[in-house]
Amino acid sequence: MKIVAVHTHLLEHRLDVAFESASMRFDRRVHLLVEVVCDDGTIGWGECLGPAGPNRAMVQAYCQWLIGMNPLETEKIWATLYNALRDQGQRGIAATALSGIDIALWDIKGKRYNVPVSTLLGGRFRDRVRAYATGSFKRDGVDRVEDNALETAGHVQAGFHAVKIKIGFDPAEDLRVIAAVRDAIGPQARLMIDANHGYDVIEAVRVGNAAADYGVDWFEEPVIPEQLDAYREVRARQPIPVAGGETWHTRWGFREPIQTRAIDIAQPDLCGVGGFTEAKRVCDLATLHGVRVVPHVWGTAVHIAAALQFMSAMVPDPVRNNPIEPIMEFDRTHNPFRQAVAMQPVEHDNGWVTVPDGPGLGIEINRDALREFAPKEMP
Ligand code: NI
Ligand code: CA
Repeated sequence: MKIVAVHTHLLEHRLDVAFESASMRFDRRVHLLVEVVCDDGTIGWGECLGPAGPNRAMVQAYCQWLIGMNPLETEKIWATLYNALRDQGQRGIAATALSGIDIALWDIKGKRYNVPVSTLLGGRFRDRVRAYATGSFKRDGVDRVEDNALETAGHVQAGFHAVKIKIGFDPAEDLRVIAAVRDAIGPQARLMIDANHGYDVIEAVRVGNAAADYGVDWFEEPVIPEQLDAYREVRARQPIPVAGGETWHTRWGFREPIQTRAIDIAQPDLCGVGGFTEAKRVCDLATLHGVRVVPHVWGTAVHIAAALQFMSAMVPDPVRNNPIEPIMEFDRTHNPFRQAVAMQPVEHDNGWVTVPDGPGLGIEINRDALREFAPKEMP
């Protein structure tokens, strides 16, 4: 079996109402899918986290090594591509592009052996995963406190047991949002806060201490991801468990945060950390040090299906009766192509998402949707 072609599919949708996290503004949704074609006609699909244009260029650059290789040899391909760029790569776009390719290869491997990726990873511990709703960005032209409270109440109404909200804009206003959201979702729902590395240590410590009264499960990306000593200080000086990792890549990227206990919860992203191949290693590394893993998810049905395959095969840690179950991030912001790219949407039902059980990722791609959401040429 040989890889004969690699295609990239850029998807784009302009938003009527732009929204912001602490570190990014979204006036459109843009994601990149990767299609790997084999000589026997088998096709695998992957997705890359992050800016689609640079990811596309990087995937194309990898083709000079990838074309002609055996797609079933996932470790060998990972090592070959990583090593080809090691001296100038190691992380960033080099890792996110490699992730999209790796996911497509595992999709091919699953199709070749007619099993879902979860079987290739060692087997399922669960057939469905409980999801938490991610949203509550800062939307243009509305009162953020009111808007976030209304939105999160809707998520709980829709069956989600937990919501994650965006902070990191302004400590005083952020605390008003946290109070209003807790009031809106009631005392039972779980609540997580995500600063998207918008704070410095002083602000993060202040917000963490004040927010703890509202029953917060984790405090995500309090400070910029390069500042591991700052992470450790935030973790030491306020009571909410600290989460992070969506911008850390490969096992080397996760080694120091995990070993030095900069985080309580590691959030590797399948489409960023280095695909299934590397996410498995990061998970094993976290287990070695007693750090909980809750993968980050921000993408289309391809990304969601990959995360589900992976999460269904995550070994409970610790193994016990009634174990701690992984929960999956479920993006609730507007994105019309998120589910449209799959023939069978990977949707939630009352806050739970069923793991697809077809071969590979378990989904089929809707090429009409790829055409519909391809960027339109300017006239
Ligand atoms: Ni729209
Ligand atoms: Ca986040």
